[in-house]
Amino acid sequence: MINIAIFGFGTVGSGVADVIRNNQAEITKTLGEGVNVKYILDIRDIPGVVNDINIIVNDPEVKIACETMGGKKPAYEYTKLALERGISVCTSNKELVDAHGVELSEIAREHNCSYLFEASVGGGIPLLRTIREAFGHERVSRIAGILNGTCNYILTNMKAGKDYATALSEAQANGYAERNPAADVEGHDTARKIAILASLVSGQKFSYEQVSCEGITGVTQKDIADAEADGMAVKLLGVYEAEGPSVVVAPYLVPKSSPLYAVNDVFNGVMVTGNMVDDVMFYGRGAGKNPTASAVVSDVIECAKNQGRNIHTGFADLKPVASVNAPSKPAGRKFRVLGE
Ligand code: HSE
Repeated sequence: MINIAIFGFGTVGSGVADVIRNNQAEITKTLGEGVNVKYILDIRDIPGVVNDINIIVNDPEVKIACETMGGKKPAYEYTKLALERGISVCTSNKELVDAHGVELSEIAREHNCSYLFEASVGGGIPLLRTIREAFGHERVSRIAGILNGTCNYILTNMKAGKDYATALSEAQANGYAERNPAADVEGHDTARKIAILASLVSGQKFSYEQVSCEGITGVTQKDIADAEADGMAVKLLGVYEAEGPSVVVAPYLVPKSSPLYAVNDVFNGVMVTGNMVDDVMFYGRGAGKNPTASAVVSDVIECAKNQGRNIHTGFADLKPVASVNAPSKPAGRKFRVLGE
């Protein structure tokens, strides 16, 4: 049995416990042994849950922790404490990866354990691992992605006639939105995700503050109807271009000819362009309890298979990118058009 801990028992953390309980047979088949949730840590007083991080990091039986708390405090401190004891950490926390991912990856390397963050981008899509393993030899020129499930859910439902506020409250009720949904609708969540992707493929650290960022709060039902009349859909995209380099988050007009046009509801779609492989499209649920938890558990399995060694993600070696371009919008247009 591999003993793990879950830090944070909210939507994703409770999902991790569910995935491990429901799919224990599949996990055991893959690993050759089972996974046991020995501790759940939460700041709230919940029966069966511990409140003191030291109980967990001082237990030599704990090999892996899932950090599903979100935010920087206390997730940064808890992650650091775990890694310093050689406990690998698997996280869904894009804010922490964006802000401290390089430092935490260095600490993991120093202590022969791993810091993995598959669930931080693209929900249930096996995106980061695939890029890391299958695109390592590619020169990635561009990534264009629908990376926020909440915004895509809102825009899809507005197209179907729902108003913005109703669509947002449904996204919240479904467990898609951040605790503060402003991070979703103002584009900051997408900015963090595209910055992580840009860092992964470029070998330079992009941070979310360097992303030119506009959300969906200014998108109206008329904009969506006008786009539809022109054979396009309004989608919130994160776009990284190696040339420049530039990283933009904004509502784009996506033509019907693009596979991103058909990515609706909570689904994410990410188009990665390599110099040899050309366009590769990833698609799956971008938010929600089970898909996100499934991505966390995929990292748990990778860490369990690599106990006592560091899984190289490239993040520990990243140096800050020197400068990032902020391309201006074409004059007289409310939205950029994807591909122009
Ligand atoms: N609030 C995020 C989203 C959760 O809607 O995509 C998944 O990162």
